[in-house]
Amino acid sequence: MSRIRTKKEAKGQEGNRPGEELRVLISHARIQKKVAEMAREIRRDFPKDSLHLIGVLKGSIFFLADLARELGGEVSFDFLGVSSYGKGTDSTGEVKLTKDLDLSIEGLTVLVVEDILDTGLTLKYLLKSFEERKPKHLRVAVLLDKVERRIADVKADYTGFEIPNEFVVGYGLDYDERYRNLPDVCVLQLGTRGKT
Ligand code: IMP
Repeated sequence: MSRIRTKKEAKGQEGNRPGEELRVLISHARIQKKVAEMAREIRRDFPKDSLHLIGVLKGSIFFLADLARELGGEVSFDFLGVSSYGKGTDSTGEVKLTKDLDLSIEGLTVLVVEDILDTGLTLKYLLKSFEERKPKHLRVAVLLDKVERRIADVKADYTGFEIPNEFVVGYGLDYDERYRNLPDVCVLQLGTRGKT
């Protein structure tokens, strides 16, 4: 049964499980505004280029979709999948490609589109792999950046929001594959009852 939500609770909160509380960190309206700003900045840097966006599955899908439509001009995209290297404690930097790109990026102006930059290990691995494929330009756009969590020496060229070290879901980001469809970015708080 759905229940009335308070102003600060996330849209879609009705779908959460007992012990899982959501608090809106960045509203959908703020995300949309920021994505449009980022698109303008990227287009200013590459006014004439055909931009090839690479989305890292699955968290980046909404960000990529919105960014692609704001960019204007010629845009193409491709996706790749990476497996998680652990549950936050493992910092070995082991990243496994679960789905490679469909298309060659040689000679293209490539924009890697990531949902969130955390330790940076995934991005470091990806950039190394992409550089070997000889793109003309290689840039990175991330929506969220948990700066204080960084282990790898990597930086995004375009960043939406710097956020504190809290676990966030929504706008593509998941917890156990859930909450990706929330329009806002929300902090997920696990109560004493924890996961059910
Ligand atoms: P990194 O290699 O530690 O930078 O990890 C990046 C990936 O970890 C992201 O693409 C997300 O899939 C995942 N991740 C990191 N922080 C969060 C979070 O707060 N919520 C959901 N996924 C996260």
